Amino acid sequence: MSEFLRIRGGIPLNGDVSVSGSKNAAVAIIPAALLGSTPSTIENLPDIDDVYCYRDILKYLGAKVDFKHGVMRIDPRGVNKNELPIELVSRMRASYYLVPTLMGRLGSAHVPMPGGCDIGNRPIDQTVKGLTSLGAKVDTAGGVISAVRGEAFGGNEVFLAMPSVGATINTMLAAVSAPGRTTIHNAAKEPHIVDTANFLSSMGARVKGAGTDVIRIDGGRPLSGSNYTIIPDQIETGTLMIAAAATRGDVTIHGTIPTHMESLTAKLLEMGVYVTDEDDVIRVRATGTLRPVTLKTQVYPGFPTDLQQPLTAMLTQAWGTSYVTETIFENRFRYVDELRRMGADIKIFERTAVVQGVERLRAATITATDLRAGAAMIVAALMAEGESKVGGIQYIMRGYEHIDEKLRSLGGEVEFI
Ligand code: EPZ
Repeated sequence: MSEFLRIRGGIPLNGDVSVSGSKNAAVAIIPAALLGSTPSTIENLPDIDDVYCYRDILKYLGAKVDFKHGVMRIDPRGVNKNELPIELVSRMRASYYLVPTLMGRLGSAHVPMPGGCDIGNRPIDQTVKGLTSLGAKVDTAGGVISAVRGEAFGGNEVFLAMPSVGATINTMLAAVSAPGRTTIHNAAKEPHIVDTANFLSSMGARVKGAGTDVIRIDGGRPLSGSNYTIIPDQIETGTLMIAAAATRGDVTIHGTIPTHMESLTAKLLEMGVYVTDEDDVIRVRATGTLRPVTLKTQVYPGFPTDLQQPLTAMLTQAWGTSYVTETIFENRFRYVDELRRMGADIKIFERTAVVQGVERLRAATITATDLRAGAAMIVAALMAEGESKVGGIQYIMRGYEHIDEKLRSLGGEVEFI
């Protein structure tokens, strides 16, 4: 078992690379397959720990699951358990998507509170609100989310207090089984919401408006399994774009959806990076000095919190002062201490990081504190002179498919040790 990612920095990344399937779509679409009366085949799944975790959970529940070469076939007909042990769900946040899907299939679900990255307070009140608005009886006592369909289960108006990704997906997953019309107001608009809605539609559900802030679902229709290919990973694409620019490289990324990347592309252009796209290909080139920027994380289509960390790592090398405000998760600056150990000049004022560019980062042994902090460590190590060792790789393996091979194919000296 590897413990570190060893990276020799200072080498510009050059060449072509393909992006993998979206983690955050995968972890919603795999449990959604439980709602079908027949098997589903899901393609373009990333080879990452979160997908393996879901494979193990579905098998435990009684589904037949086969996962090879990015394709998962799920036959949910044997699912007969509606409870999960904490060991199986504590590894990832998205395990709570099993609450509406098991409830839809078996009438009730008992799922321990989700785990996942420690990036701040991650309440589930909006998921509870969504499910109870549909008439489900929900209880979270003892650290377990219990949901029972109940007599009154049916479509309704749901007003989310904030556009939460998790609450939007959970409410959508419940609403497809709830007879009648559900309208989700103030829904999240991230690409993986749209992809989950498209998968549900391919199963026979009526879901309209995903990608806008009002989603309408006519629930209670019979759903069958489907063959579905998930979208490319927006955050992996962004991480590769940042790595290319940070090393002053020239990288062409294939299999992307450029419109998903607009907020990052705009920031990179502002920094003086060349970004062009055509069809599903994005090319990123950087040569000279990088200019500083001011940015604030926001819900989609704003700048994603998941790219705040790797972009901040890159800003340590911009010529001047950048201001990065994190509005989504309050603990998403914990990785900054590691960057400081590499010589970065970053000061945190409440939710804003003030990043003063320095000429060079020094190689160091650094530790990822969560998945996207891992991406920041990789970007920093790729820029630093000398050999760095990045620990905490279990986080990186949760969400980045074969990141070592991909970076090596671009000329990076990167290996798991
Ligand atoms: C999803 O998390 C993603 N995870 C995260 O990606 C991503 O950072 C986040 O959305 C924001 O884009 C998955 O898709 C599996 P939220 P989620 O509910 O659903 C508050 C990664 O690295 N809130 O949209 O947990 C919450 O505190 C991961 O890939 C409530 O107050 O995020 C936060 O401030 C990490 N009550 C904000 O909303 C609730 O009931 C957004 O959270 C729910 C959320």
